Amino acid sequence: MADFARELFSRTIAEPFRTKVVEKLRLPERDERERLLQEAFYSPAYLNASDVYIDLVTDSGSGAMSDEQWGALMRGDEAYVRSRSFFAFEKAVQEVTGFRHIIPTHQGRAAENIVMELLVKPGDIVLSNTHFDTTKAHVEHRQATPVDLVGDWLWDFATPLPFKGNFDLEKLKAALEHHSAKVPFIIITILNNFACSSPVSMANIRAVRALADQYKIPVYFDACRFAENAYFIKIRESGYETKTIADIVHEMLSYGDGCWMSAKKDAIVNVGGFIATNDEGFARLCQEKLVLYEGFYTYGGLARRDLEAIAVGLREGIEEDYLAHRTGLVAFLGQQIEAAGVVVSQPVGGSGVFVDVMALYPHLPAEKMPGIALFCDLYLEGGVRAGAAPFSMKTVRAETGQIEETMFQFARFAVPRRVYSKAHMEFVGLVMARVKSQAHANRGYRVTEHPAILGHFFSKFEPL
Ligand code: F0G
Repeated sequence: MADFARELFSRTIAEPFRTKVVEKLRLPERDERERLLQEAFYSPAYLNASDVYIDLVTDSGSGAMSDEQWGALMRGDEAYVRSRSFFAFEKAVQEVTGFRHIIPTHQGRAAENIVMELLVKPGDIVLSNTHFDTTKAHVEHRQATPVDLVGDWLWDFATPLPFKGNFDLEKLKAALEHHSAKVPFIIITILNNFACSSPVSMANIRAVRALADQYKIPVYFDACRFAENAYFIKIRESGYETKTIADIVHEMLSYGDGCWMSAKKDAIVNVGGFIATNDEGFARLCQEKLVLYEGFYTYGGLARRDLEAIAVGLREGIEEDYLAHRTGLVAFLGQQIEAAGVVVSQPVGGSGVFVDVMALYPHLPAEKMPGIALFCDLYLEGGVRAGAAPFSMKTVRAETGQIEETMFQFARFAVPRRVYSKAHMEFVGLVMARVKSQAHANRGYRVTEHPAILGHFFSKFEPL
């Protein structure tokens, strides 16, 4: 029988949790915000968190841990060698991912560093649906080329496609046909963060695996938001409606030779990560690098209590009620921003809402930094912080296999897990309505400083 309460649950986006501890927020006065923005060089990366009312710069490590996770911290066995907490962590990761060998790291990019050092050599070409920026930077650090094969449908924000994070299989075929000898492995990013946080379908994952097999190329998952991806498969891909999230996760990851994960996302912890694989030899090589960079192979740069929190968070992260609420709240924010007359990537994905900044500031060409214009207007009008960065992507032309570079301009309103309420999202929507009504008056920004590596973290700007 249909359950009225359950139906209400999804209609109202009522939380499947309640608040036990609160953290006070501050909204600085308008003239103070003006000064703070100037002092922060008009960059999201220099603005202090204590000066931000609603912080949507990232969903990474910014979530709220549960009472069970805080309780687990107290169980931490801080032994250096083979602590009890390592085994709790190992068991949870094995259970959730289905992989046997588990290597803890202090966060996602530490895992990337090790994997890339072992697998990538100068001149290689790494293929992904879309590399996250640290992933891309690690590939480049190995003097190799990261190539993003997400479909060109990504650029069309308004057209809703259920799995915009997919590989364009024609591009992948062309890339393999022309470059396979240089491809050490393929990365499937789930969900596809920089592709508007869009999921990847099971059918696409299966097809990527089949193509990789033809060329005997390994496949790894960048799995930070694996649970959100699995949830979207459940609600958007036919044949998965009645499967559990745990089963969908197992099937997804079964198509890979291994994965790495920043646990700061779907394991809902403030720090942590891991590499997971069935290849014992590869796992041993990872452990050796781990000892060099991170720490002993049973703690990998983390306090042992952090491993306990990951073990609990991984299991909470695949609970369906939690995922329904989580994705529901992000979708609600998307509706609020869209209601403000702003173009949002449709359908709204997992980690946050992606806004077409070129459409919001049509009078500002890319060099006048429309993303920074949005960041500044948003903070000035509402004390809200969102991330905005131009992101360069190399892709291949499906007809010729030729590698070409494009720029992707977007702003991301990333929603931390279990932190903000529906009223906070409404607040952001109303701020966006005001930003939109005044956008024409923004004259743009210019870059005053831009370092070569991961430049957007350190860039400084000034208004034109
Ligand atoms: N891969 C993806 C897809 C990510 O989104 C991130 C981090 C990483 C790898 C690196 O993990 O931060 O733990 O070292 N993304 C954050 C974000 C920073 O804001 O999207 P990390």
